[in-house]
Amino acid sequence: MTSPASSPAPASGRARAAVILAAGQGTRMKSPTPKVLHRIGGRTMLDHAIDTAQGLGCERIVVVVGAHSPQVGEHARKRLGQDATVVQDPPLGTGHAVLAAREALADFDGDVVITYADCPLLSAPTIEPLFAVRDKGADVAVLGFEAANPTGYGRLILTPGHVLLRIVEEKEADDTVKQVKHCNSGVLAADRATLFDLLSQVRNDNAKGEYYLTDVVELAHDRQLTTRAAFAPEAAVQGVNSQGELAAAESVWQGARRAALLVEGVTMPAPETVHLSWDTQLAAGVTVEPFVVFGPGVSVASGAVIKAFSHLEGAAVGEGALIGPYARLRPGAEIGPDAHIGNFVEVKKVKVGAGAKANHLSYLGDGSVGPKANIGAGTIFCNYDGFDKFETHVGAGAFIGSNTALVAPVRVGDGAMTGSGSVITKDVADGDLALSRAPQSDKPGWAAKFRALKLAKKDKK
Ligand code: UD1
Ligand code: CA
Repeated sequence: MTSPASSPAPASGRARAAVILAAGQGTRMKSPTPKVLHRIGGRTMLDHAIDTAQGLGCERIVVVVGAHSPQVGEHARKRLGQDATVVQDPPLGTGHAVLAAREALADFDGDVVITYADCPLLSAPTIEPLFAVRDKGADVAVLGFEAANPTGYGRLILTPGHVLLRIVEEKEADDTVKQVKHCNSGVLAADRATLFDLLSQVRNDNAKGEYYLTDVVELAHDRQLTTRAAFAPEAAVQGVNSQGELAAAESVWQGARRAALLVEGVTMPAPETVHLSWDTQLAAGVTVEPFVVFGPGVSVASGAVIKAFSHLEGAAVGEGALIGPYARLRPGAEIGPDAHIGNFVEVKKVKVGAGAKANHLSYLGDGSVGPKANIGAGTIFCNYDGFDKFETHVGAGAFIGSNTALVAPVRVGDGAMTGSGSVITKDVADGDLALSRAPQSDKPGWAAKFRALKLAKKDKK
């Protein structure tokens, strides 16, 4: 699985660069969003591919983009810098795509690994064996896999000793080659100078009229260079071409992340119902009940319990806190240790102090809740006047009566109280009680008389 950037130095002495192919049209996605900007675990497939390249320790990364989706290039440049992309226009095949990166890597001395941006499950550990093959003397190393159904893939023509003779694309394959189950994942590594030298000789006189990257294998072999394959599990190299495949990749990704969290000591009685993001941080000793969704940017400290049907994003949950069931934590929610956020409570951009409680039916938006404060059921931070947002601050140990509307900007002091049903528009000093509701007036016997009258009328009919 891909994980946030970590760049271990390559085991061998050779520097590494990556060329990530992302110039395909992705028409089968039938989506206005370019294919590689679709997300797995809340992170774009392109970012997963970049994570993987960084995880391999690639010091240079070039993303090959098409002219048809400028957003892809913008996305890559935002993360990697202005020089990180090259445009392939028009797209004339995978070999042609890699050649588009030739100038960008002209001064690079080391290995180049080619990956696809639409293979979000491709991880650095899956690719690393390619470099092991390079270390053992292969000039060109190809990552293969054994396909349950090889139709559509390029086939690896191997000697019994795993020497790779050539790759035959499906469209060029005869019946014998079509029986071959060893397929090309698309990931290939070679020394930069060798790679571009070989690529300059690739021609497009084939069934698709394209420049096939895969042709470099036979060209290398003809030159007495060593060409070998390394192998990966099929699931790890799966490409995404349609919404169905995107969902399938998501499911594989989620399964692997959940399994990793279980190993790390997170308790999840129904892991298959928990939805994680690429950067979800759950400490050992966290419990996640069924049907919880983690959007991006969530961290949960040890001993916290996220109860069923809660939705969290951009939130930090402190040690021993209880969240949910049915809680919603939005960006900027910082829940202190041992605080309780209960059912149907929404928290946005509010720092909730240690041991504070908001157990039922509330909206806390923009501001703070002091330690040990108690927020009664139905409390609303009225933070928005239709134009601007304002802050509400509730002091330590304060008690907010049920159904209080706190009209921001407003501050309730330490240890202060508000009466149920109050609309609080002015600051409340420490230790005060604020009430803002009509005094109660009782009409003795009124209800009984009213009921008797109504029943009498009903009986007549
Ligand atoms: C390619 C391989 C095939 C392999 C398969 C694995 C070649 C010739 N074939 O076939 O051996 O089994 O992938 O999935 O390499 N792209 C560009 N520019 C182009 C063409 C493609 O950037 O001009 C990108 C696409 O966006 C995609 C990747 O390269 O990410 C693969 O292209 P695709 O057309 O899907 O190759 P396949 O025919 O599937
Ligand atoms: Ca493909």
